[in-house]
Amino acid sequence: MNKFLIAGNWKMNKTASEAKAFIEELKAKNFSNAEEVAVLVPFTDLYTVKDALAGSGIKFGAQNVHFEASGAFTGEVSVPMLSEIGVDYCVIGHSERREYFNETDETVNKKLKVLIEAGITPILCVGESLEVREKGEEQAFVGGQLVADFEGISAKDATKIVIAYEPIWAIGTGKTATPEQAEEMCAFIRGVMEGMYDAVVAESLLILYGGSMKPSNAKELLEKEDINGGLIGGASLKADDFAGIADAAAALK
Ligand code: PGA
Repeated sequence: MNKFLIAGNWKMNKTASEAKAFIEELKAKNFSNAEEVAVLVPFTDLYTVKDALAGSGIKFGAQNVHFEASGAFTGEVSVPMLSEIGVDYCVIGHSERREYFNETDETVNKKLKVLIEAGITPILCVGESLEVREKGEEQAFVGGQLVADFEGISAKDATKIVIAYEPIWAIGTGKTATPEQAEEMCAFIRGVMEGMYDAVVAESLLILYGGSMKPSNAKELLEKEDINGGLIGGASLKADDFAGIADAAAALK
């Protein structure tokens, strides 16, 4: 049976009251695969979303975290803070954080380690820019990210990380990677993980595709062998669209 994760990355969208209304709409969809659906929301929405989701089976999480447990880091949020809320997931290393907020493979690596220790599942984002792809260097680039991001992480802990392949040129652009391009890179990522660890680790990993996924292209992406779900931005903000993608995954069971 295929295992999926359909995760909605809200980015900097929805106030707490908007979040509550949205979750009510989402719950009304009565997903058959609710436990494979997650919403990744702004910090200010976490408690509201947790309460609104209670009993639905739908999972939730944050979009970033600091690697220190506490201290003089104005404006940051720590793993113990997320743990107390009870989040299931936390996105790490999204290309927007790497590009606009100085996130590096070094900080990504630290964040992965503290999240795993706390039992929160990281969703690690990797992916190349258009410039890198045009030079035909996407595998070298993403392979390099993986080696740096997983440094010092044991095989047992590696299996606790979800990887999202998000080509930067496909994020929010309406330009989706073709199912073949997405599959090629997700299979490549699985191969890198087999090389760094072993086949058991590689096979157990959930590898998601992200970048303009929507109901109309979800099936052809999700039916690919090495694509185990989606990290969805724009289309996760509308309940109908997000549900359409979750339903496409449910139909592939
Ligand atoms: P998009 O965003 O679906 O709007 O392209 C995906 C993401 O950035 O996670």
